[in-house]
Amino acid sequence: MRERDDIETFLFDVCDFELPHDNYGTEIGNLFPEWRDAIIRADGLVIVTPEYNHGYPGTLKAVLDLLLKEYIHKAVAFVGVSAGPWGGCRVIEACVPMVRELGLAVTFTDLNFPAIKNKFDADGNFSFEMGPTPDGVVLMTRDYQADPKTGVARRVDPIRVGGRLSEAVPAVG
Ligand SMILES: Cc1cc2nc3c(=O)[nH]c(=O)nc-3n(C[C@H](O)[C@H](O)[C@H](O)COP(=O)(O)O)c2cc1C
Repeated sequence: MRERDDIETFLFDVCDFELPHDNYGTEIGNLFPEWRDAIIRADGLVIVTPEYNHGYPGTLKAVLDLLLKEYIHKAVAFVGVSAGPWGGCRVIEACVPMVRELGLAVTFTDLNFPAIKNKFDADGNFSFEMGPTPDGVVLMTRDYQADPKTGVARRVDPIRVGGRLSEAVPAVG
């Protein structure tokens, strides 16, 4: 995604969040201003998650729970990662109802990485051609864009939503 000149990206790793154990959720959202400000600026998210016992990691949930209104009407695409053969499709299915409650809109397609250990060479380099998921998230964010002041996403071109989504079907496969 970084190679596309029509997308500005910010990368966050949930491991970098020093989450307290005595408080939770939006009450502590302001302790992570970089995350809050990035989500306010963002038009969409791509969540890359491993599958843990068919579910999502608790840390991912704890980080997402730091905010709420900042996500509303923004697109989210999922990249699933697993040791098994299904490429995290079960963790993605588990995430869908959860992100719906955050107000996020899930893209049509996912990107799946099964047997993740085989995707790294002996030197630890990752090799895989990026698939179509960014197109899904880009197409959806063109219809809803975040107001730079409030962070609230608003539909920018309602008349063309249907056309765009049906145009997207061949593109996102
Ligand atoms: C607690 C735990 C549960 C896991 N459950 C699954 C699973 O249900 N299905 C699967 O294919 N892989 C499972 N895995 C393997 C991980 O998905 C795989 O190792 C992961 O994508 C790599 O991310 P990690 O570095 O955060 O472990 C599990 C790994 C852990 C640690």
